[in-house]
Amino acid sequence: MNNLPKHIAIIMDGNGRWANNRHLPRLAGHREGANAVQRTIEAAQKFGIKFLTLYAFSTENWSRPQDEINGLMDLLSKTLDTYTAQAKKKNYRLLVSGARDKLPPAVLGKIDKAVQITAQNTGLTVNLALNYGARQEIVHAVNTLLAQGKTNISMEDISAHLYQPGVPDPELIIRTSGEERLSNFLLWQAAYSEFYFTPVLWPDFNAEELQKALNEYARRTRRFGGI
Ligand code: FPP
Repeated sequence: MNNLPKHIAIIMDGNGRWANNRHLPRLAGHREGANAVQRTIEAAQKFGIKFLTLYAFSTENWSRPQDEINGLMDLLSKTLDTYTAQAKKKNYRLLVSGARDKLPPAVLGKIDKAVQITAQNTGLTVNLALNYGARQEIVHAVNTLLAQGKTNISMEDISAHLYQPGVPDPELIIRTSGEERLSNFLLWQAAYSEFYFTPVLWPDFNAEELQKALNEYARRTRRFGGI
């Protein structure tokens, strides 16, 4: 496939509605969402994508009921175990973008282990946006530069001090569930991204849906403000 994005970022939305539609608790939707994560990682690897950023938990998600937060953290812990085992077999690398504060120590430990164990892998890089907020990320970059004594900050300086400076800007951002907004996701990196919105709820996302997004992306001509 030609004109393939190197980096795809996904706002995985609609777990709650998927569960509601089936009269199931919201957590059942998140569990099925975790399965969709695995499917999507495999599909992205198969299509030859280099970077996949997944919005797993935003800084705003802490305002959800404590039960749901606990359930999500528990699920994340378990998924990180599965992921670390899979990554070893399939040569994925795991990175995390976000702030460490507020995350439970158990989750932090598993993140550190997964990142460390997969650091040398050369296949797809999966970047989990976890406790992530784009405005916070930009403020964090600026504060890091100020602490270094910088007084005149360039765009390159900011790009180099984001959470994962080694991850290129995403060419394609996907949001599922019919919502069409960025919700504090990759505000800096999205300057020239193509957007793809689908009504499909995240737990129903799969290789075929990813293929549709890639087809749409390949159709678009990217001009970067030129003609
Ligand atoms: C949005 O659905 C999804 C989230 C807030 C969390 C994303 C989590 C997952 C995909 C599952 C776990 C992921 C990992 C990596 C373990 P929503 O709850 O906002 O759905 P709604 O808008 O329909 O209520």
